[in-house]
Amino acid sequence: MERKTFHIVTYGCQMNVHESEKLAGIMRGLGYEPIEDERQADAIIFNTCCIRENAEERARGNIGALKKLKKEKKDLIIAVGGCMTQQKGGAERLKKTFPFIDIVFGTHNLEQFGELFLKRLNEKKSVLAVEEKEGAISEGTPKLRSSYPNAWVNIMYGCDNFCSYCIVPYVRGRERSRRAEDVVRECENLVAEGYKEITLLGQNVNSYRGEGGVSFADLLRKIDAIEGRFRLRFMTNHPKDLSEDVARAIAESEKICHAVHLPVQSGSDRILKLMNRRYTGGQYLEKLDMLKKIVPDCAVTSDVMVGFPTETEEDFEATLELVKRARFHGAFTFVYSPRRGTAAAAMEGQVPEEVSKQRIIRLIELQNAVNREISESYAGKTAEVLCEGYDREKSLFFGRDEYGKTICFDGGEETDIGNFCDVKIHAANGISLTGSKMRKGN
Ligand code: SAH
Ligand code: SF4
Ligand code: F3S
Repeated sequence: MERKTFHIVTYGCQMNVHESEKLAGIMRGLGYEPIEDERQADAIIFNTCCIRENAEERARGNIGALKKLKKEKKDLIIAVGGCMTQQKGGAERLKKTFPFIDIVFGTHNLEQFGELFLKRLNEKKSVLAVEEKEGAISEGTPKLRSSYPNAWVNIMYGCDNFCSYCIVPYVRGRERSRRAEDVVRECENLVAEGYKEITLLGQNVNSYRGEGGVSFADLLRKIDAIEGRFRLRFMTNHPKDLSEDVARAIAESEKICHAVHLPVQSGSDRILKLMNRRYTGGQYLEKLDMLKKIVPDCAVTSDVMVGFPTETEEDFEATLELVKRARFHGAFTFVYSPRRGTAAAAMEGQVPEEVSKQRIIRLIELQNAVNREISESYAGKTAEVLCEGYDREKSLFFGRDEYGKTICFDGGEETDIGNFCDVKIHAANGISLTGSKMRKGN
């Protein structure tokens, strides 16, 4: 008999990418196989994000585009889960706009997806399951991983910070941590299976608190102690909670990459206060100094937002100034997007889109200049690259160094994927880096 197939479309953060691996694991458990071409799939699952309006628009556009296919293929099952469905009234809005959706499931219903899917198959009517509150953490959901040689590992769920612009605490529930022994066991298994990089995931990993009071630094040390050759990364950090103990754990470790993602959002103290970030620009820079004192070669990356309500030219210039001083190894830049139900959405003084657009252009220009300088500093050096794959268009292999910098290289072989390769970097061409794999004895 021909195998049934599924296709998953994922939006949003690494958390969602990893949760799609769980959905894939669940579908595999039901006897379905993954398929690239969604038009051939028997089931299409959307794992959505609502962090900004454009993420929602993209999902709505792609779901809407399936209306015709669904008419042609009566047996096709369309499921929508993730953060959009968990917003207040979100599931109902989706059902109303797209009545052809078969299954709507919330972020707290992910582990149940197999049962919901079978229910839809057996009862032949649409299923809606959006639990309002987070339940206990459930271990043991199967995963079909798709990011070898990297493996994502959740250490905590939810967020209690309530930054005033952010929807995450509303759609992901309260902060809760997995038990350290469960996390360590998962990491041990991954290393034994041959994964070469583990990335720990949480909205605010610094407030990890395992059973018995295990801190994030403790957890890092436990994972670092696992035998074998692998890199350890983690994200995301909140500046107010990043401790010296974590910095020391990084410095003293063998496997933790000297790379920290530390979102700053703004350089204006007034805006940071309105954002409820609980630090000032000065305190952020002090954190950077602390980190660099303990881990001198630490590469710091960041998230920066423009156009938060009431942001003036002066506030924005404070952001530029901070970005200049911080010399981030890279930064994701965003235009503020009002989110229904958050404190900031109700604030006076929303910034016109035109103004925000101008500001983000200036911010990107500044950060690009820093990126270029950092890239130039690589020229002629040798970097150790964990080979992640082969880029057919460029006919080059690619991977990242310890600092998270992407490097393309020639001279590799298919068997290098998942290996650490020494790559001699050519002169930098703008921001991107290319080099050649060095042969042993070179
Ligand atoms: N928990 C992580 C970030 C999650 S969201 C952390 O705190 O670092 C990733 C990034 O999206 C945030 O750092 C922020 O810069 C951006 N973001 C969140 N809400 C946003 C909004 N309403 N509009 C624009 N950008 C937003
Ligand atoms: Fe959102 Fe702030 Fe929590 Fe990050 S820390 S997920 S920005 S509320
Ligand atoms: Fe988006 Fe949800 Fe992640 S809103 S950024 S997918 S936690």
